[in-house]
Amino acid sequence: MKRGRIIAISGLVASGKSTVAEKLSEILRAQVISSDVIRKRMAGIDPFSHIKCGYKKAIYSPSFTHRVYESIIKTAVKEAKEGKDVIVDATFSQKRYRDMLRGEAEKEKIPLFFFFLDTPEATIIERLRKREKERTVSDADISVYLKMKETYEYPQEDEDVVVLKGDKRVEEIVEEILKTIKEGQNGF
Ligand SMILES: Nc1ncnc2c1ncn2[C@@H]1O[C@H](COP(=O)(O)OP(=O)(O)OP(=O)(O)O)[C@@H](O)[C@H]1O
Ligand SMILES: [Mg+2]
Repeated sequence: MKRGRIIAISGLVASGKSTVAEKLSEILRAQVISSDVIRKRMAGIDPFSHIKCGYKKAIYSPSFTHRVYESIIKTAVKEAKEGKDVIVDATFSQKRYRDMLRGEAEKEKIPLFFFFLDTPEATIIERLRKREKERTVSDADISVYLKMKETYEYPQEDEDVVVLKGDKRVEEIVEEILKTIKEGQNGF
Protein backbone atom coordinates (compact mmCIF):
# COMPACT_ATOMS: atom_id res chain seq x y z
CA MET A 1 0.00 0.00 0.00
CA LYS A 2 1.18 3.52 -0.79
CA ARG A 3 2.56 5.23 2.32
CA GLY A 4 1.15 8.47 3.68
CA ARG A 5 3.55 11.26 4.58
CA ILE A 6 4.61 12.35 8.04
CA ILE A 7 4.98 16.10 8.42
CA ALA A 8 6.59 17.09 11.71
CA ILE A 9 6.27 20.65 13.02
CA SER A 10 8.80 21.38 15.74
CA GLY A 11 9.92 24.47 17.62
CA LEU A 12 9.99 26.26 20.93
CA VAL A 13 7.02 27.23 23.05
CA ALA A 14 4.59 29.51 21.15
CA SER A 15 6.65 29.34 17.97
CA GLY A 16 3.30 28.63 16.28
CA LYS A 17 3.36 24.83 15.86
CA SER A 18 -0.25 24.08 16.74
CA THR A 19 -1.59 26.99 14.71
CA VAL A 20 0.39 25.94 11.62
CA ALA A 21 -0.46 22.25 12.16
CA GLU A 22 -4.20 22.97 12.32
CA LYS A 23 -4.18 25.11 9.18
CA LEU A 24 -2.12 22.52 7.31
CA SER A 25 -4.46 19.75 8.44
CA GLU A 26 -7.44 21.54 6.90
CA ILE A 27 -5.67 21.80 3.55
CA LEU A 28 -4.23 18.28 3.48
CA ARG A 29 -7.22 16.76 5.29
CA ALA A 30 -4.68 15.10 7.54
CA GLN A 31 -4.90 14.22 11.20
CA VAL A 32 -2.82 16.24 13.68
CA ILE A 33 -1.03 14.21 16.32
CA SER A 34 -0.28 16.68 19.08
CA SER A 35 2.09 15.88 21.94
CA ASP A 36 0.04 18.13 24.24
CA VAL A 37 -3.20 16.31 23.46
CA ILE A 38 -1.62 12.84 23.74
CA ARG A 39 0.17 13.77 26.98
CA LYS A 40 -3.08 14.80 28.62
CA ARG A 41 -4.94 11.80 27.24
CA MET A 42 -2.26 9.50 28.68
CA ALA A 43 -2.58 11.27 32.02
CA GLY A 44 -6.37 10.97 31.89
CA ILE A 45 -7.01 14.70 32.02
CA ASP A 46 -9.10 17.03 29.91
CA PRO A 47 -6.97 18.62 27.11
CA PHE A 48 -8.11 22.12 28.05
CA SER A 49 -7.47 21.80 31.76
CA HIS A 50 -4.18 23.33 32.87
CA ILE A 51 -1.41 21.79 34.88
CA LYS A 52 1.15 24.10 36.46
CA CYS A 53 3.50 21.57 37.98
CA GLY A 54 6.96 23.03 37.52
CA TYR A 55 9.37 22.52 34.65
CA LYS A 56 10.01 18.85 33.78
CA LYS A 57 7.82 17.66 36.64
CA ALA A 58 4.81 15.30 36.83
CA ILE A 59 3.35 14.84 33.31
CA TYR A 60 6.33 16.83 31.96
CA SER A 61 8.94 14.59 33.58
CA PRO A 62 11.58 13.08 31.26
CA SER A 63 10.11 9.59 31.67
CA PHE A 64 6.55 10.71 30.88
CA THR A 65 7.86 12.75 27.94
CA HIS A 66 9.64 9.65 26.65
CA ARG A 67 6.36 7.73 26.67
CA VAL A 68 4.59 10.61 24.94
CA TYR A 69 7.11 10.62 22.07
CA GLU A 70 6.98 6.84 21.77
CA SER A 71 3.21 7.08 21.51
CA ILE A 72 3.02 9.90 18.98
CA ILE A 73 5.69 8.31 16.79
CA LYS A 74 3.98 4.92 16.91
CA THR A 75 0.63 6.45 15.98
CA ALA A 76 2.10 8.56 13.18
CA VAL A 77 3.86 5.53 11.66
CA LYS A 78 0.72 3.40 11.92
CA GLU A 79 -1.42 6.01 10.15
CA ALA A 80 1.18 6.60 7.41
CA LYS A 81 1.49 2.84 6.84
CA GLU A 82 -2.26 2.84 6.23
CA GLY A 83 -1.74 5.44 3.53
CA LYS A 84 -2.80 8.52 5.49
CA ASP A 85 -0.88 11.78 5.73
CA VAL A 86 -0.25 12.83 9.33
CA ILE A 87 1.01 15.99 10.97
CA VAL A 88 3.00 15.72 14.19
CA ASP A 89 2.89 18.78 16.45
CA ALA A 90 5.54 18.63 19.18
CA THR A 91 8.49 20.69 20.40
CA PHE A 92 11.05 17.90 19.62
CA SER A 93 13.39 19.75 21.98
CA GLN A 94 15.71 16.75 22.16
CA LYS A 95 17.53 15.42 19.12
CA ARG A 96 16.98 11.84 20.22
CA TYR A 97 13.23 12.17 19.59
CA ARG A 98 13.83 13.61 16.14
CA ASP A 99 16.18 10.68 15.48
CA MET A 100 13.58 8.27 16.85
CA LEU A 101 10.93 9.54 14.42
CA ARG A 102 13.36 9.55 11.51
CA GLY A 103 14.55 6.03 12.29
CA GLU A 104 11.03 4.62 12.46
CA ALA A 105 9.99 6.44 9.26
CA GLU A 106 13.05 5.14 7.38
CA LYS A 107 12.44 1.60 8.59
CA GLU A 108 8.92 1.71 7.15
CA LYS A 109 9.88 3.71 4.03
CA ILE A 110 7.60 6.57 4.99
CA PRO A 111 8.36 9.99 3.50
CA LEU A 112 9.16 12.33 6.38
CA PHE A 113 9.24 16.13 6.21
CA PHE A 114 10.67 17.80 9.28
CA PHE A 115 10.17 21.50 9.95
CA PHE A 116 11.42 23.82 12.70
CA LEU A 117 9.63 27.11 13.30
CA ASP A 118 12.23 29.75 14.10
CA THR A 119 10.33 32.53 15.86
CA PRO A 120 11.99 35.58 17.43
CA GLU A 121 11.83 35.86 21.20
CA ALA A 122 9.95 39.18 21.16
CA THR A 123 7.19 37.59 19.06
CA ILE A 124 7.02 34.57 21.36
CA ILE A 125 6.70 36.72 24.50
CA GLU A 126 4.02 38.85 22.86
CA ARG A 127 2.10 35.73 21.77
CA LEU A 128 2.33 34.15 25.20
CA ARG A 129 0.95 37.30 26.87
CA LYS A 130 -1.97 37.22 24.46
CA ARG A 131 -2.49 33.45 24.72
CA GLU A 132 -2.95 33.64 28.50
CA LYS A 133 -6.46 34.88 27.78
CA GLU A 134 -7.21 32.31 25.07
CA ARG A 135 -8.40 28.71 25.19
CA THR A 136 -5.41 26.45 24.50
CA VAL A 137 -4.28 22.90 25.11
CA SER A 138 -0.75 24.09 25.93
CA ASP A 139 0.29 24.58 29.56
CA ALA A 140 3.41 26.52 28.59
CA ASP A 141 3.88 30.11 29.71
CA ILE A 142 6.76 32.59 29.64
CA SER A 143 8.66 30.83 32.44
CA VAL A 144 8.47 27.50 30.57
CA TYR A 145 9.67 29.23 27.39
CA LEU A 146 12.64 30.81 29.19
CA LYS A 147 13.69 27.46 30.65
CA MET A 148 13.20 25.52 27.43
CA LYS A 149 15.21 27.91 25.29
CA GLU A 150 18.28 27.21 27.45
CA THR A 151 18.14 23.46 26.88
CA TYR A 152 16.52 23.16 23.44
CA GLU A 153 18.74 21.08 21.14
CA TYR A 154 18.47 23.14 17.97
CA PRO A 155 18.44 21.16 14.71
CA GLN A 156 21.87 20.78 13.17
CA GLU A 157 22.77 21.18 9.48
CA ASP A 158 23.12 17.43 8.91
CA GLU A 159 19.65 16.66 10.30
CA ASP A 160 17.59 17.49 7.24
CA VAL A 161 15.24 19.74 9.18
CA VAL A 162 13.78 22.63 7.20
CA VAL A 163 13.95 25.86 9.20
CA LEU A 164 11.09 28.30 8.56
CA LYS A 165 10.63 31.82 9.87
CA GLY A 166 7.81 31.59 12.40
CA ASP A 167 6.88 35.26 12.58
CA LYS A 168 5.12 35.34 9.23
CA ARG A 169 1.41 34.98 8.65
CA VAL A 170 0.27 31.41 9.22
CA GLU A 171 -0.93 31.18 5.59
CA GLU A 172 2.57 32.05 4.34
CA ILE A 173 4.21 29.44 6.56
CA VAL A 174 1.76 26.78 5.42
CA GLU A 175 2.42 27.75 1.80
CA GLU A 176 6.17 27.20 2.33
CA ILE A 177 5.52 23.81 3.90
CA LEU A 178 3.30 22.75 0.98
CA LYS A 179 5.96 23.89 -1.50
CA THR A 180 8.70 21.94 0.30
CA ILE A 181 6.57 18.80 0.42
CA LYS A 182 5.74 19.07 -3.27
CA GLU A 183 9.40 19.53 -4.25
CA GLY A 184 10.47 16.68 -1.98
CA GLN A 185 7.88 14.37 -3.46
CA ASN A 186 9.29 14.85 -6.94
CA GLY A 187 12.21 12.67 -5.93
CA PHE A 188 9.95 9.77 -5.04
N1 LIG B 1 1.87 32.96 12.44
C1 LIG B 1 1.24 33.51 13.47
N2 LIG B 1 0.89 34.80 13.46
C2 LIG B 1 0.27 35.36 14.51
N3 LIG B 1 -0.04 34.71 15.65
C3 LIG B 1 0.27 33.42 15.73
C4 LIG B 1 0.93 32.74 14.66
N4 LIG B 1 1.14 31.47 15.03
C5 LIG B 1 0.64 31.36 16.26
N5 LIG B 1 0.11 32.51 16.70
C6 LIG B 1 -0.51 32.76 18.01
O1 LIG B 1 0.52 32.61 18.98
C7 LIG B 1 0.09 31.83 20.08
C8 LIG B 1 0.97 30.60 20.19
O2 LIG B 1 0.75 29.77 19.05
P1 LIG B 1 0.62 28.19 19.19
O3 LIG B 1 -0.22 27.85 20.35
O4 LIG B 1 0.22 27.68 17.85
O5 LIG B 1 2.15 27.83 19.48
P2 LIG B 1 2.78 26.42 19.83
O6 LIG B 1 4.13 26.39 19.19
O7 LIG B 1 1.84 25.34 19.53
O8 LIG B 1 2.99 26.55 21.43
P3 LIG B 1 3.16 25.37 22.52
O9 LIG B 1 4.58 24.88 22.42
O10 LIG B 1 2.93 26.07 23.84
O11 LIG B 1 2.16 24.33 22.21
C9 LIG B 1 -1.38 31.53 19.86
O12 LIG B 1 -2.17 32.44 20.58
C10 LIG B 1 -1.57 31.72 18.35
O13 LIG B 1 -2.86 32.17 18.04
MG1 LIG C 1 0.97 23.87 20.71
